Amino acid sequence: MTLHFYILNPSVSTMARTLLGRSEAAMAAITALLMLGFFIAYQTSVDSSRELRYAMASGANSTLCSCEHDVETAIRALKQHLSVSAVSTAPIRIKSPVTNSLMYLQPGKERVCKDGQIDHGCYCKKATNVYPPENILLSQDIRWARGCKKRRPDAIIPGTMKSGTTALKAYLEIHPAITFPDKELKFANHHKVEEFDEYNKVMPYSTPDQIAIEKTAGYFNRIPVVERLREALPDIKFIIIMREPIQRAVSNYMHMLAIKVKSSGTLPIVKEHSSAPQYEIKSTFRESVLFPNGSLKTANRLLDTSRYVRYLKQWYRIYPRHQILVLDGEEFTQDPLPSLQRVEEFLGIDRFFDEDKFFFNETKGFICLRDPFEMCMTGNKGRPHEEVSDDLMEKLRDHFRPFNRKLVKVLERELSWTNSY
Ligand SMILES: *[C@@H]1O[C@H](CO)[C@@H](O)[C@H](O)[C@H]1NC(C)=O
Ligand SMILES: *[C@@H]1O[C@H](CO)[C@@H](O)[C@H](O)[C@H]1NC(C)=O
Ligand SMILES: *[C@@H]1O[C@H](CO)[C@@H](O)[C@H](O)[C@H]1NC(C)=O
Repeated sequence: MTLHFYILNPSVSTMARTLLGRSEAAMAAITALLMLGFFIAYQTSVDSSRELRYAMASGANSTLCSCEHDVETAIRALKQHLSVSAVSTAPIRIKSPVTNSLMYLQPGKERVCKDGQIDHGCYCKKATNVYPPENILLSQDIRWARGCKKRRPDAIIPGTMKSGTTALKAYLEIHPAITFPDKELKFANHHKVEEFDEYNKVMPYSTPDQIAIEKTAGYFNRIPVVERLREALPDIKFIIIMREPIQRAVSNYMHMLAIKVKSSGTLPIVKEHSSAPQYEIKSTFRESVLFPNGSLKTANRLLDTSRYVRYLKQWYRIYPRHQILVLDGEEFTQDPLPSLQRVEEFLGIDRFFDEDKFFFNETKGFICLRDPFEMCMTGNKGRPHEEVSDDLMEKLRDHFRPFNRKLVKVLERELSWTNSY
């Protein structure tokens, strides 16, 4: 077994001294410390002879120890060090077992990101003109010192697509306690339960204090994928956002049309199972959802995805309700703050979002982030929507009304749009 010690700051080192000093059995103490888990990171290694090296120094008076021994020797050295060094406010230096370089360990006080960048745990975040911000990976040493690891997601935003999942991610990834991969991973679409060990490899680094979230908007209406997720990640949490169904269908149409044009006519095929509804994308939204005889093409995936309750019922069968948070997409677009605070509460993380973090940009016509840097959503958010004529609107409302009513029953609460028609 190889133990890697690192001391985060002087107050923690005081605690370490107190805990170690009181304990008769060093092993018991160190076990307790490890269970506390927030200042000593440990790594087990199959190679027990692997060199354990650490060096510590307090201020100018340094104690350097390079041990090639076992846990107990390491603890003795740690105790010795802690008893000789006065309770100081000086940063503590430690030798990295990763690169062997000496470094100062006082995260929080030590500046690791340049001006205009935000220290976000394992990355520095830098605002760009358009979303997303740039993530600059911190050095190996700092990552090691901070316990950065690629972890499986603790939470997933599974959809619904075109309901504001990108905006939700854009805000949440600014939260100091949340990390996101840059892109949608769609991991569960392509992996069997036995392959979920690979999930962490595609995730970004996160500190032990951070929650790793993934957004793949297409999971929501792929029930076989949800079943797989349940088997592989039973404790994970989900944040589902639902926009008003007709607006979502129109937005989904614009999105698919853009893909169709770009790929000269080919549409992505939904392969989950043969009966899964497919997209039918014509040159107008009207033509895509309406037969010439005036009936709705209810089997079109554009409309199917918006019948939220049919899918949500299955989610509730597969996962316990308390692991699923449903957000109102219209409310979120109007005013993101209440939804973001609901997410903070749901995930059990510190409150970060408040009114001061946002402003309404009159020119753009939507709310932007002000703090820690200015960020406005761009791109397809501004895509013009096709005007839906009154007769079609009436048909769509009649179609979705009963599904919206059922959704209220299943959710046991109303959303801003569930009873609006
Ligand atoms: C280290 O500590 C000793 C004993 O407290 C002291 O005599 C010595 O001057 C210190 N060294 C430095 C470089 O501060
Ligand atoms: C309209 O046409 C579609 C496709 O041909 C057909 O499936 C549907 O039953 C028709 N609806 C009515 C009311 O005739
Ligand atoms: C609002 O958006 C416009 C257009 O992108 C931009 O030029 C302007 O600086 C923004 N206003 C504020 C107060 O940031």
